[in-house]
Amino acid sequence: MAAPEKPIAIVTGAAQGIGLGIARALALASHRVMMGDVDRERLEQSARELQTDGGDVVAQPLDVTNPDEWASALAALDARWGRLDTLVNNAGISPRGTAETTDLALWDLTLAINLKGAWLGAKACLPWLKTSQGVILNIGSTRSTRPMPGLFSYVVSKAGLWGMTRQLAVEYLHAGVRCNMIAPGWVDTPNERLLQARHGRPDFPAGVANLTTPEQVGAAAVYLASPAARTISGVTLYLDSGLHVADDAGMVFFPDTRSLPFPQRIDEE
Ligand SMILES: NC(=O)c1ccc[n+]([C@@H]2O[C@H](COP(=O)([O-])OP(=O)(O)OC[C@H]3O[C@@H](n4cnc5c(N)ncnc54)[C@H](O)[C@@H]3O)[C@@H](O)[C@H]2O)c1
Repeated sequence: MAAPEKPIAIVTGAAQGIGLGIARALALASHRVMMGDVDRERLEQSARELQTDGGDVVAQPLDVTNPDEWASALAALDARWGRLDTLVNNAGISPRGTAETTDLALWDLTLAINLKGAWLGAKACLPWLKTSQGVILNIGSTRSTRPMPGLFSYVVSKAGLWGMTRQLAVEYLHAGVRCNMIAPGWVDTPNERLLQARHGRPDFPAGVANLTTPEQVGAAAVYLASPAARTISGVTLYLDSGLHVADDAGMVFFPDTRSLPFPQRIDEE
């Protein structure tokens, strides 16, 4: 019996953090992975590390907001592997700001990376995914469906991604392409530590009871990309220990901040 072809995946924002965790998990599960990111230096370094560990991965400079860069990425993928099974739309930013303190530039940037980027990725990859009966995985957040004060553009973008996930699942049901969202809660990544430190929590993730790891997000991606999940589409898989059903829109896992008056819990630049 001929060995099955190794599945091919693209992971965006794969230079570090959750995206790197997903790329690593997919590579360990015998996927070939194109790792895309705007941070070329870190991307090259991370790809080299995965290659050293035996991963069949390639680094691809990719700004998800730019359709031309998606076209270049797919051309490179075609030349190298000629196939695509899984797109992981992971690239994202989580800037602080309320509806009033968010300015036009910040709104445009957040929506461009977190939402438009995922659409452009789907648009570029769908012709390939229809051929392979593949899958799109969007990386949302607990905040896709449970808002938090001070994360205005982020929450709106991630809620949009939730809608896009369901819309793609419906539009491509008959084409055999699945689309699902993985929604982590707090994940300990280097950038999340920097962000939390900037907002007065230098000891993050200390005290966060429901921390999720990039490896756990990677494991969820491996499962949802696998044949075992071939009847799963349009769902959101929360990896947040139940935070999305908790009756508290605030930072319930930072007990020391719960007693503060409401406005002080709003993160602002
Ligand atoms: N860390 C958390 O607590 C957490 C929780 C829930 C959801 N998420 C989501 O997970 C995803 C990854 O988060 P993270 O914490 O690993 O972030 P991170 O900042 O560590 O990594 C994000 C990566 O995306 C890249 N990137 C930024 N703009 C890009 C663009 N235009 N095109 C391509 N790449 C771009 C960055 O260079 C970086 O390498 C994001 O979508 C984020 O919203 C994170």
